[in-house]
Amino acid sequence: MRVVQRPASPAAFAVAAAEVITEHLQVKPQSALALPTGNTPLGLYAELARRFRSGALDLRHAYLFNLDEYAGVTRDDPHSYAAFIERYLLAPLNFSADKVRLLMGDAADLERECRSYDAAIAAREGIDLCVLGLGTNGHIAFNEPGTDWNLGTHIVQLSAETRATHAAQTADEWRIPTWGITMGIRTILKARAILLLIAGTGKDAAKRALYQEQVDERFPVTCLANHPDLTVIELCEPAERR
Ligand code: GLP
Repeated sequence: MRVVQRPASPAAFAVAAAEVITEHLQVKPQSALALPTGNTPLGLYAELARRFRSGALDLRHAYLFNLDEYAGVTRDDPHSYAAFIERYLLAPLNFSADKVRLLMGDAADLERECRSYDAAIAAREGIDLCVLGLGTNGHIAFNEPGTDWNLGTHIVQLSAETRATHAAQTADEWRIPTWGITMGIRTILKARAILLLIAGTGKDAAKRALYQEQVDERFPVTCLANHPDLTVIELCEPAERR
């Protein structure tokens, strides 16, 4: 089944996304979640934190993975994705360390880190709900156009477009790394449910490809077209409607 929702405000977008996660955890409290970095999920994470504080969201039994990381960047570097997850999820939702496995971009042996990550996912019997954002070039996690769709967690060379997009969003002079590590499309497609969140500019070509519902290797997001449990929530503010 493929569900597309188009909330018209960032607040409604955050609530719609939080609702999917909340319902998922009500059905299976011990769910393994994979959650993304980026601007798109910020409202969602604030909404999850609100629900957690009010007692409407119980995360005690959930397990958390993230999707990707810059290679060579330490967890305590504020530019790292791990620091993002720590700041917007782990701290506000009071996740205990034994319920979280994040990709470590500064692991001495990145190949080994990838295998260890796959093993951690397998130990949880796979991902129950994988929440994804969308890159301007159609990437999901760091699965760039041209990536092999049959990979588990792997090392990836970031595209010039991705690096430029990230550089434009970075407030300081930090140099965007050339390499990253990412959960692979094979693992993402094995998730029992997928929630794709779409917001932000420059994504029209990727969205068009997605909504054609046909696999198009130029846009990795189209790998989701045949997933049996995909929900898409696209922020569609009135000014952007056409
Ligand atoms: C980054 C991340 C993705 C994220 C995407 C969208 O490149 N690797 O996991 O989903 O960009 O980011 P944003 O939500 O800021 O548009």
